[in-house]
This record gives sequence, structure tokens and C-alpha cells, in this order.
Amino acid sequence: MLSTNIISSSLYLIFLLSSHLGHTICQSRSSDKTIILLAGQSNMAGRGGVINDQWDGIVPDDCSPTSSILRLNAKHQWVVATEPLHRDIDTNHTCGVGPAMSLAHAVVRKSFGIAEVGLVPCAVGGTNISHWSRGGHLYNQLVRRAKDSLRDGGTIQALVWYQGESDTLLKQDADSYKRRLLKFYLDFRTDLQSPMLPIIQVCK
Ligand SMILES: *[C@@H]1O[C@H](CO)[C@@H](O)[C@H](O)[C@H]1NC(C)=O
Ligand SMILES: *[C@@H]1O[C@H](CO)[C@@H](O)[C@H](O)[C@H]1NC(C)=O
Repeated sequence: MLSTNIISSSLYLIFLLSSHLGHTICQSRSSDKTIILLAGQSNMAGRGGVINDQWDGIVPDDCSPTSSILRLNAKHQWVVATEPLHRDIDTNHTCGVGPAMSLAHAVVRKSFGIAEVGLVPCAVGGTNISHWSRGGHLYNQLVRRAKDSLRDGGTIQALVWYQGESDTLLKQDADSYKRRLLKFYLDFRTDLQSPMLPIIQVCK
């Protein structure tokens, strides 16, 4: 939750995703949106700049809006992405800056400015892995938003998953985490009919 964590994690994400996507992105045209799903808890939803439940409104250069980076809003419309990306998704918390905008900027840079990136925010603060299990509200919302994001074309290139802190409170939950997480990944790839969907997991 510390902003240093957010920054180091986003750098790590950029490294992972840009090395993975490099090939695909170079061939993409702007009509073929590079769609990236975002799920997990508060670190993904973004708390950068939130102090005493107020966001300070400061947007780092690396997270600034640009016409080539879109966001699927809560009404399932593509709009130019602006921070806080999760403000209409993680509605019970005050959202701030998260890691996804700098990641999207890196993808655009890597494509020499050709790529159009579509971010699909789905993270909700404080959630544990059980909240994300198949059939639950968050899981269904993730599947629904993922499918809807393809409506105007594009390709889902990755799910970025940043979650787990809520599963460290009890030893038994921590011990079960790997099994529950792998089940979530398997279920999600199955329900999206995308068995090879790259999943990028942020680890601290
Ligand atoms: C907000 O809190 C209410 C009441 O606890 C809950 O029903 C709802 O699902 C929560 N919404 C989100 C987006 O977390
Ligand atoms: C997740 O949270 C719910 C309710 O907040 C709780 O009932 C459940 O035991 C938790 N599960 C894990 C794995 O932490």
C-alpha cells in the first residue's frame, strides 16, 4: 500500500508485460486494442496519494491521460483513462493512483506509439481470494467486463493480478492461498475460453 511499493511493483509489471507483449504489440494496429484486465485488492485499485481518505489529486507524469489509453468505466463504455482508474469500481473506498497507467504508457512506448491500450479495472480493496472464487460477485463482474471489453474489437493480452494481503491474516488461509489462486486462474481461463491467457501476478 505504500507508494514505494506501488512504484516498484509497477516497474516490475512494466518489465514483465513489455517483455511478454513486445512481439504482439509491434504488429498491432490501433484498431486492434491491447486489452489488459486489472484485478485484485487495494494495491491494484490504487491508493497512491490517498491520505486520511482523501486523494490529493496529484497525477505523476507517468500516469497522465493520453488519447491512446482507454478505460472501461462502470457503465462498460470506453473513455479516455484518467486516475483514479478504479474510482467507479472500488466505490466503497477512496481510490488514488495505482500501477496500471504507467504500465499502459510503457506498452504504448514499446509499440512506438502505435498501440491503443484498453484498461479494464475490476479490483476492489480489502478482498480476499475467496471473494474472487467462481460464481461470486467479483468473479462474475470480472468475466462480464472482460467479455464486454471485446465488444468493439481488440484482444485481451493479459490479466494483471495484485492480491493476497487479505489472505495473510490467518495461517490456514495463507496455506490455502496457492490452491485457491490456481483454481481462480484455471476457472477464469476456462470461462473466458482463453486457456493460454497470460496472467501477470505481482509478488512483493
Ligand atoms: C460496498 O459495500 C456494500 C455494503 O457492505 C456491499 O454490499 C457492496 O458490494 C460494496 N461494493 C463494493 C464495490 O465493494
Ligand atoms: C474472506 O472474507 C470473508 C468475509 O469477509 C470471510 O468469511 C472468509 O473466511 C475470508 N476467506 C479467506 C480465505 O480469507
